Amino acid sequence: MTKLLVLYYSRTGNTEKMAKAVAEGVRSVAGTEVEMNYYISVEELAGYDAMLVGVATYHHDMPVTFKSYFEEAAVKNVDLKGKPCAAFGSYGWSGEAPKLILEILKNKFEMNVREPPLSIKYTPDQTGLDKCFALGKRVAESLIPRA
Ligand SMILES: Cc1cc2nc3c(=O)[nH]c(=O)nc-3n(C[C@H](O)[C@H](O)[C@H](O)COP(=O)(O)O)c2cc1C
Repeated sequence: MTKLLVLYYSRTGNTEKMAKAVAEGVRSVAGTEVEMNYYISVEELAGYDAMLVGVATYHHDMPVTFKSYFEEAAVKNVDLKGKPCAAFGSYGWSGEAPKLILEILKNKFEMNVREPPLSIKYTPDQTGLDKCFALGKRVAESLIPRA
């Protein structure tokens, strides 16, 4: 069983809708377990095989609580090296947050970024949700060992 984490920050529910669709995509892959949460302790992060991070953009940035969360993980040397990760998030006009989080995951934690950030303007429509589902599925499938 591979274990994937969908960790997200959403104030008004748009990124949460995306997170649910991403988690469904992960769940669609046999042999995969998914946990969807808006908070787990930083030490627990190391217990997952891959991480999908959802974050909405506020004030051209990711929310400060989210930034300090990953700073705490870095200070505590949480080992995420080489694990696959991806980022997504809802936005209104500029949408920086998913890109910023990927930079942190890549540069501070040496995670394996395989996907460009998936950004959706305001509330995701069905096409957007399908893209979220596909993202979760792709990352989960990338963990299946090839015969
Ligand atoms: C106070 C405030 C500041 C915002 N700042 C930005 C911003 O700088 N860039 C942007 O793209 N969207 C911005 N937005 C729009 C949100 O990203 C958008 O509403 C998004 O759908 C919120 O996602 P959530 O429902 O997951 O919290 C802002 C919204 C609010 C209320």
